[in-house]
Amino acid sequence: MITKMNCRKISFLGMLLFAMLNCSAQSIPEWKMIHPGIWKAVIGKPDAMTLLSVADATPNLEAMSKLPKGSFPLPQGEISMSVVDHKTYLRFPLEKGEQLFGLGLNFKNVNQRGKIFNLHVDHYNGEDNGRTHAPVPFYVSSKGYGVLIDAARYITVYAGTGVRTDTKNPPELLDRNTSKNWKAHPYSDAVEMLVPADGVAVYVFEGPTPMQVVQRYNLMNGGGYLPPKWGLGFTQRVPTLYSQTDILKEVQQFKEHAFPLDFIGVEPGWQSMAYPCTFEWDKTRFPNPKSFIDSLSAQGIRSNLWMNPYVSPVGSLYPKLKPLSASHTVWNGIIPDITLPKTQQIFKDHFIKEHLSLGVSGYKMDETDGFDSWLWPDVTTFPSGYSAEQMRQMYGLKMQRMTAGWFKEMNKRTFGLTRASNAGSSGLPYVIYNDYYDHKDFITALVNSSFIGILWTPEVRASKTAEEWVRRIQSVCFSPMAMLNAWADGTKPWSFPEVEKAVQDVAQLRMQLLPYIYNCFSQYHFEGKPPFRSMQLVEGFRFSTKDQYMMGDQIIVAPMFAGEKTRTVHFPSGKWYDFYTGDFVGENQPLVITASLEKIPLFVRDGGIIPMVPPHFHAPAQGEKLALEIRHYGKMPASIELYDDDGISFDYEKGMHSKTQLVVTKNEKGELKGNMIRRSTDKVFSYKEDVVWKFMTSK
Ligand code: GAL
Repeated sequence: MITKMNCRKISFLGMLLFAMLNCSAQSIPEWKMIHPGIWKAVIGKPDAMTLLSVADATPNLEAMSKLPKGSFPLPQGEISMSVVDHKTYLRFPLEKGEQLFGLGLNFKNVNQRGKIFNLHVDHYNGEDNGRTHAPVPFYVSSKGYGVLIDAARYITVYAGTGVRTDTKNPPELLDRNTSKNWKAHPYSDAVEMLVPADGVAVYVFEGPTPMQVVQRYNLMNGGGYLPPKWGLGFTQRVPTLYSQTDILKEVQQFKEHAFPLDFIGVEPGWQSMAYPCTFEWDKTRFPNPKSFIDSLSAQGIRSNLWMNPYVSPVGSLYPKLKPLSASHTVWNGIIPDITLPKTQQIFKDHFIKEHLSLGVSGYKMDETDGFDSWLWPDVTTFPSGYSAEQMRQMYGLKMQRMTAGWFKEMNKRTFGLTRASNAGSSGLPYVIYNDYYDHKDFITALVNSSFIGILWTPEVRASKTAEEWVRRIQSVCFSPMAMLNAWADGTKPWSFPEVEKAVQDVAQLRMQLLPYIYNCFSQYHFEGKPPFRSMQLVEGFRFSTKDQYMMGDQIIVAPMFAGEKTRTVHFPSGKWYDFYTGDFVGENQPLVITASLEKIPLFVRDGGIIPMVPPHFHAPAQGEKLALEIRHYGKMPASIELYDDDGISFDYEKGMHSKTQLVVTKNEKGELKGNMIRRSTDKVFSYKEDVVWKFMTSK
C-alpha cells in the first residue's frame, strides 16, 4: 500500500535517480602521472573517439624523461570537473598577472587571458573567437604549466572571464556612478570550460618553463615531424589550370631566373573534376602523369597534389565510397567517413596506385575546415555513428594521419599542407595555410602556432606593390614552408622586376641556412622545441610582442611590413648581433631599428653558431656533399650539435644519423677558434670535412 510517507520517499528517490543520471556532483579530479611531467584525469565517460586517439602518436618518453622533474604544477584542490546534463564543466585556477597562450591558431593576439572561445574547426574569418583552422584545446601558462582537453567537440573556453560567487579573489566592488576604475570585465581568477560531452580526459603538463611545457606536449605527440630536406626548400604552386607542359616550362623559367625550387604544387586542375574531386588525372592537361613526374624528378623537383575529400559522382571512387559516406554532400560530392577502416583502405589503394607509386611526394588537403555554409551541417549523420560535430573537429587531423601513414610505410618522408588540424598533430607532416592573407596577422599566427604543436606558413600570393612583395617573400622564407601560392593569379617570384634580386637573395639565404633550419626541425623532433617560436618561449623574456619570433635557439626574425622603414625589436637578455654584419645591436631592451628593403632584420644571440652552405637551387640530394661555412656571432665561446641524416627516409629512427659538435673556444688572448668534432660512429654526414669558420663579430 502506498502511504503518503512512501510517496514522498519514492519521489525523493526518483529525484535522486534523475540527478544521478544527469549529473555527477562537482568533484576534485584524481590526477595520475602518465608520462614524465604529464598528468591525466578522467571525468565521466569520455567519447570513444578523441583528438589524441585520432592523432595516434607514440610518445617520446625518453626525451620527456630528460626534462626537469617537478611536481603537479597547480593547486589540485582548486581544479574542479563535473558532468551535468551531458556536458562536462571544467575549472582551473588563475593567478594575478598570469598570461595564457595557445587555445587555437589565433591571428590577432598572443595572450589569450580575458577572451572567450568556442573552439571550432573553421576557416579563420578575421576574429580570434575559437573558429580557426586548428582550434587546439590546449593552453600554456606564463607560470609554466599547460592544460589540454582531449575532446573532438566544440569546446567553449572562458579564459579568465567568469566570476563565481565563491571566488577566493573577488574583484573590487566599484560604483560606476562615481568610480573611474569601474570595469565592464571585472577580475576573473579561473579558466572555465564547457565540453558538450558526457566526460573528458584532461591532461596537465608541468614546465617549469613555458618552453618545457610545449616540449612535453610535442613529445607526447611523438615529437615534431622531421621534414625531408627538400620540404624545406622553395615551393611554387602553379595556376589551377596549368598542364604538365605549362609546369615543365615554369620549372625551366625558375632555372633561367636562377631561383631555387624544390617542389611544385599542382592545384585542382590536375584532376578530371574538382570541387568535388575525382582524384584522377585529367587526360587533356596531364596525358602522361608518370613521365611528367619522372621529368620533374630528373631535375631534382618533387610534386605536391591539391585535393579536398569530397568525392565526385563521375569518379571511379564514387560507387565504392557511396555506402561509406555521410547523409549530406559538399559541393555535390559525397563525404567519405574516414573513421571506417574500409574507407581508409579504398583511399589508400587508389592514392598509392594513382599517385604515390608514380612518385608524387605529398598532398595539399584543402577545405576540411569551413565555412559552415560550405561544409556539412551539424545535422549530418555518418555511417560510423560519430556526430557531425566530432567529424568536423577531427576530419583534417584524420586526413593527415591517414596520408602520413602511406608515406611512412614506403619509408619516404613527405611534407604537405592542410587547412584543418587539431590537438595531437605535432608529429604529422603538414603545414597549415589559409586564404586570409593579412601579412601582419600571418606573423602573429606564426608566433601562436608554436604553443600548440602545429606549423603555419604565411604563404605569398600576390601584392599591390614591389615593396609588399619583397616583404612578404622575406617572411615566408623565414617560416616552416617557403611557398608562393600562385593558384589564382600566376605570380612568379620575379613578377616585380624591380625587386627580383632582393627576392632571389632571400630565397638563396634560406637555402644557405638549410643546415641551421634542418637543425631547428631536428630539435622539434628529438626535443619537442618548435622551430619557429614565440618570444614568450625564450626564458626570462619580459616584453609582449606579436610581430617578431625566434627561428631556433639562435636567431630573432623581425619581419618588415609594406610602408614601414623602421620597427621596434624587443631583445631578450644577453647580447644580440646583426646577422648580416656581426655588429652588436642590443640587449634586454626594445630598440627601434631601420631596415633596407633588401633585407629582413635578423639578429643572432651572443655565442650563436650558424652552419651555412653556399647558395644552391635544390636542397641537397641524398649523398650530396656541400661545403660548410660556420658563422659565429658575439664574443662568447659556445657549442652546438649539427644534426644530419639522409634527408629523405626514416632510417634516422634506426640510428642512421649524425650529431657533430661545432665548438668555439676562446684562448687567453681572447681569440676565438672553431672546431668540428665528428663522432666516429656517425655514418651519414652530407658536408665536406674542411669547413670554413667565420667569426662575424670583430669589434
Ligand atoms: C583554396 C585554397 C587555395 C587554392 C584554391 C584552389 O581553397 O585555400 O590555396 O588551393 O583553393 O582552388
